[in-house]
Amino acid sequence: MKLVTTIKALRKELIRLRACGRTVGFVPTMGYFHAGHVSLMERSVKDHHATVVSLFVNPIQFGPGEDLGRYPRDLVRDRKMAQAAGVELFFVPSGAEMYPAGFLTHISVSRLGDSLCGASRPGHFSGVATVVGKLLNIVQPDAMYLGQKDAQQVEIISRMMRDLDFSTCLKVCPTVREKDGLAMSSRNAYLSPSERASAPSIYRALCHARAMIAAGERRAARINSVIKKLISDGAGASIEYVSCVTLHDLRFTRRIQGRVLIAVAARFGTTRLIDNIIVTT
Ligand code: PAJ
Repeated sequence: MKLVTTIKALRKELIRLRACGRTVGFVPTMGYFHAGHVSLMERSVKDHHATVVSLFVNPIQFGPGEDLGRYPRDLVRDRKMAQAAGVELFFVPSGAEMYPAGFLTHISVSRLGDSLCGASRPGHFSGVATVVGKLLNIVQPDAMYLGQKDAQQVEIISRMMRDLDFSTCLKVCPTVREKDGLAMSSRNAYLSPSERASAPSIYRALCHARAMIAAGERRAARINSVIKKLISDGAGASIEYVSCVTLHDLRFTRRIQGRVLIAVAARFGTTRLIDNIIVTT
């Protein structure tokens, strides 16, 4: 595996790969790898001759007062994990490489970025769309791999790729969980032992909602209130939102009908966690 830090060096490596007719899979990340990241890398390695992974803690997707400064980092460990997963090129650019002086252009996917996580994180999804748009132009992969854990991010990037005619194929991979159901996240590292013990209540509540829907419940308000109760019964949680929205369009729905995304954001102490399930009726 080669570590490259400049766009120019990465493009040179990619030209060499392409010249041998090799297909390229791509996994964008912010590092501090866990089994969720590794599952995306392994899927790409399985599907393509060569896999590129980017590690860039993208400053423009963090709001003022968010955790940019203390976002967990461990490049040595990440490098070993990417290598073990079979990654060919590990792209780790600096802030100045991605956003040189004079950078002015931003991509914003209207409406989809305003609700759910976008409501409390203004500008976040524009930062995500901008960096992913740039990375897609730099790498020009055959396929890009994203995790379903960040469901709103998936819908926004997918819409951006469709609207702006990116030719890369988007592959969405299932959420990887700890044994107790907690969705893996780099931010789980912030949890205190007691917060960590109550955090699995999010997924337990989502599973309970799935069972209620399987048993015939169709009222979104009822589902939302049961999820809220099950999470806040776990110690120390404060719920930011619980929402039932239509898949792809992210419109609030009063009835659970068709394909519905049930998404949750909750704080355990100061740590904000998100999770979701998709139900089909
Ligand atoms: P990051 O949080 O590092 O996540 C990188 C990729 O890993 C994303 O596609 C995310 O959905 C996926 N992922 C995270 N946890 C997962 C889990 N438990 N199971 C499966 N996949 C999981 O998401 C970002 O970085 C950034 O916003 C990025 C897209 C790189 C743009 O900066």
